[in-house]
Amino acid sequence: MHTLVFATNNPHKAQEVEQILGPGFIIKTLKDIGCLEDIEETEPTLEGNALLKARYVKEKYGYDCFSEDTGLEVEALDGAPGVHTARYAGEGRDPEDNIKLLLKNLEGKSTRKAQFRTVIALLMKDQEILLQGICPGSIATQKHGTGGFGYDPVFIPEGYTDTFAVLGYDVKNKISHRARAIAQLLETIRANSTESL
Ligand code: IMP
Repeated sequence: MHTLVFATNNPHKAQEVEQILGPGFIIKTLKDIGCLEDIEETEPTLEGNALLKARYVKEKYGYDCFSEDTGLEVEALDGAPGVHTARYAGEGRDPEDNIKLLLKNLEGKSTRKAQFRTVIALLMKDQEILLQGICPGSIATQKHGTGGFGYDPVFIPEGYTDTFAVLGYDVKNKISHRARAIAQLLETIRANSTESL
């Protein structure tokens, strides 16, 4: 058995990865290893924050681990909100306020191109590996749909005419930034763990 810590407090995300990896792997969350402190994301990039969380766990608890950080990068806003995606409109982390601000800042812009980017930092067997998954698309002019979370009501993935909130999880889980990053993670974990299993 190979134990990996997923530096998250979201048990659903951890369970999802454990199911995809299959037998031979145990995925633990921060709570499972007794890490109850809030690891502050103080770095200016997604990569920096993903590494910061994973290094914290590896150094303090000694487990192989991975962490993820996701941002929405909008071309006409020079890549914003990027690392500030969750708290774009303030510390309240309110998705409605975030969307309102995004739509306002895009008024009159000639392009609405954007991408979601998920970065995963994997610390395994003394190696530090950065992986990413990108979902290209554009920002709608107004909200559509009730599914999903965060910016889903205004994000239209490339090749579609509806937002993630309209398309739903069946489509989203096949093409999303997170799904693509997790696919890379699985490939890398499997490739790196063959000798030790
Ligand atoms: P996290 O790193 O997964 O916590 O994501 C940071 C922020 O990005 C979240 O608070 C959401 O606002 C936004 N976000 C991440 N993934 C998605 C997504 O799949 N759809 C819409 N918004 C997302």
